[in-house]
Amino acid sequence: MQTERLSADADGIRRAAALLTAGGIVAIPTETVYGLAADATNEAAILRVFAAKGRPQDNPLIVHIADLADLPRLAKEIPDTAYALAKRFWPGPLTLVLKRTDAVADCVSAGLDTVAVRMPSHPVAREIIRASVPLAAPSANTSGAPSPTEAGHVLHDLDGKIDAVVLGDRCTVGVESTVVSLAVTPPRLLRPGGISAEQLREVLPDLVLDQAILHQPEPHARVASPGMKYQHYAPQTKCFLVEGTGEQFIDYVNRKPACAALCFSEEASRLTVPHLDYGRGSSAEELAQNLFAALRRADDFGVAEIYIHAPQKTGVGLAVYNRLIRAAAFQVISL
Ligand code: TXA
Ligand code: MG
Repeated sequence: MQTERLSADADGIRRAAALLTAGGIVAIPTETVYGLAADATNEAAILRVFAAKGRPQDNPLIVHIADLADLPRLAKEIPDTAYALAKRFWPGPLTLVLKRTDAVADCVSAGLDTVAVRMPSHPVAREIIRASVPLAAPSANTSGAPSPTEAGHVLHDLDGKIDAVVLGDRCTVGVESTVVSLAVTPPRLLRPGGISAEQLREVLPDLVLDQAILHQPEPHARVASPGMKYQHYAPQTKCFLVEGTGEQFIDYVNRKPACAALCFSEEASRLTVPHLDYGRGSSAEELAQNLFAALRRADDFGVAEIYIHAPQKTGVGLAVYNRLIRAAAFQVISL
């Protein structure tokens, strides 16, 4: 299959919408990561998304809407807190898990009685949805690989497997949306992301954090968010997540033979091993923005082990930590 390259302008948006309405699968930019979109009511199109990514079919997809008026078609028994969160954080990097209606294709929800919904803020994503239909869209990467934050990442993974890609800019948030379930009491944070737990607590004071955010699920355990149980974001090279101060990290890594480091920019000049910095340690937003591109380059070092300096688990740093602990297969070194 030839994957069409579409520009992120009116012509490209029109073509993407036409392909999607006709059951095509198209990668589109959002503010978090690129998504691989399909009509959320078209079972055959959704199955093509799972196939192109090599995604296990028990892992449900997020449905993207452009207007709040689209929500009651997809979800029912919508609590007031959903509207309070929507008012505060939509459009933006927040996904709400709600009881679902029959309008959602079964395979979108992977057999669950809930649906995950988000309203992206990226203008191109919004215009494509407005010109087509509600779109189910997982991240536009091969399942297991780091999520794509540039159109080039999408093409690297999916060129020839999807109908088109809309060539937008680099994603501004850089990690996927925050996923919160309002289908349980108390509300539960399933995946940390662009909206922090601290921000959510302003609207949801009783929010609880799912165990799977920071801990490895037991084998065969039932997890609230199926995506949490899969190997994710992983370079081929063995990675370790290192907790400690800048001084401790530099000292530890410089003594290790045949390794490389994924570090903060403040540390780069003092490392004597090959390294790549993923932003200032003082800015969790910057680390989030650069994280996935850095993980995609990690294998280029050609070393046996990579030590990654862990961010603080506050603000969007919790999302960065959550992705890194998976990239490191839960191997954490505390200095
Ligand atoms: O920022 C994002 O959310 C991006 C962009 C493209 O919007 N999308 C994204 O999709 O990250 P994906 O498929 O890579 O991750 C969706 C996550 C998975 O962990 C999945 O298990 C969870 O959301 N999820 C989806 N539907 C769910 C449901 N009904 N209940 C619980 N978790 C759900
Ligand atoms: Mg994903």
